[in-house]
Amino acid sequence: MRKKEKEAVEKLSKITTIALKRGFFWPTAEIYGGKAGLLSYGHLGKAMKNKFENLWKEYFIKSNENYYEIGSSVILPEKVFIASGHLEHFNDPLVECKTCHFRFRADQFLESRLKIKVEELTPEEMSDLIRKNKLKCPKCGSWHLGQVKWFNMMFPIQLGAVGIKDMAYLTPETAQASYLAFKREFEATRKKLPLGIAIIGKAFRNELSPRQLITRMKEFHQAELQIFFDPAEINRLDKEEWKQISKYKLIMLPQKEKKVKEITCEDTNKKLKLPKFYVKNLALAQKFYIEQLKIPKSKFRLRELSEKERAFYNKIHWDVELELETLGEFREVGGVHYRTDHDLGGHEKYSKENLKIFYNNKKFIPHVLEISLGIDRDIWALMDIFFKEEKERTVFSFPITVSPIDIAIFPLVSREAMPEKAKEVYNILKKDLLCFYDETGAIGRRYRRQDEIGTPYCITIDSQTLKDDTVTIRERDSMKQKRVKIGTLLVELKNIM
Ligand code: GAP
Repeated sequence: MRKKEKEAVEKLSKITTIALKRGFFWPTAEIYGGKAGLLSYGHLGKAMKNKFENLWKEYFIKSNENYYEIGSSVILPEKVFIASGHLEHFNDPLVECKTCHFRFRADQFLESRLKIKVEELTPEEMSDLIRKNKLKCPKCGSWHLGQVKWFNMMFPIQLGAVGIKDMAYLTPETAQASYLAFKREFEATRKKLPLGIAIIGKAFRNELSPRQLITRMKEFHQAELQIFFDPAEINRLDKEEWKQISKYKLIMLPQKEKKVKEITCEDTNKKLKLPKFYVKNLALAQKFYIEQLKIPKSKFRLRELSEKERAFYNKIHWDVELELETLGEFREVGGVHYRTDHDLGGHEKYSKENLKIFYNNKKFIPHVLEISLGIDRDIWALMDIFFKEEKERTVFSFPITVSPIDIAIFPLVSREAMPEKAKEVYNILKKDLLCFYDETGAIGRRYRRQDEIGTPYCITIDSQTLKDDTVTIRERDSMKQKRVKIGTLLVELKNIM
């Protein structure tokens, strides 16, 4: 194994150990041996996920006064997916060993064996590659591998009683429910465009090779915003709005380039010929990662997908990718998709419901620009990027916007009225902050335990507290301490956070 690969495996194993031991996540039904592709969040993972979702809502939904969040069932009737094209096109290439009947993803198999990208190949081309390179079954070693075939990734569900066919599917993306809600939401929200309909929820995909922990699961969480707009306005933007972002630099890997480039929004529009409305939303997505999640620029990029790589519903498709050492590469965590009228048009055709609107003095089906993020993959990315090992401690240097806990509160020792005083402080702060109280063990070890889960601040109540009502605030990354009055503690904390 090469040095870099070895380091990646070691880092992955260290983060996973912390995740299991401290309560971030673990395999679902672990006591029964678990199931590949199914994971559950522990108290820290859930707290982090809640923070991520709140941040996402605050940032994306409040970016426009006409964006709203809705909810939906995750079981949707078959017709929805006939209309959306998922029943026909939402496939992975599958190959079966004719000897042991093991079934696996042909693209991942080829990529790992031949170290080439095969995203653009047809099943026939993949079968040819397997034959030409004399590849064997990864399980039993047989040469006898079948033809590569498409395999639909949706989970079918039969809603009716036995014998009565009423087919439905677990939704493979939250987006479809926003399209189904469009007509009602447009009517209910003053009939204005652009209209944003957001959903945070579960998506389900029968991933053939669920691996790499929470980055490829069968049941996962998405945060998706569908923005419905007038296609005639795709290259028009309010002058002031454009002025504000035109000099902002996007970190981009266009299809034809080998290296990432920083390109201003203005040039992205003029030279890369991306419409202004699309560019604006690329910038919105990038700023979420760089400014809100504090991802270093060097680990971020927007990658353009080729025509063959693009999802079947997209006309323009750039992925948000982050460099993850644990996976040894840049990995997609989200995407900005121009879906045109593909979905609403399909739903109009199959439901026979008129989904056209009258707006800007004309009748038309609105187009959709989608910003789609995978929450679980983003959480893993944060754990990968902010994981640090120092001489005497392991730290997740998460920004406070996503750290599972805001503040840990400790009495220096569990006697001399310090625990009582510490609980007083806990009760003051818990109304505004996510607090954790701990009074057992040496103080140094308690600090290390909080560093290991990414708590940005620890407050210690010591003998001086009992004399002058002051406490120390210890900052996680610098480990520097500051003494402040309990009376001004909340204000002090809010100032430094
Ligand atoms: N509505 C568009 C859509 O679903 P996608 O690229 O298929 O687009 C969006 O999925 C995001 O969902 C991905 O960027 C990724 O972060 C996440 N995602 C997709 N499949 C996943 C899986 N099997 N496990 C975990 N996250 C996944």
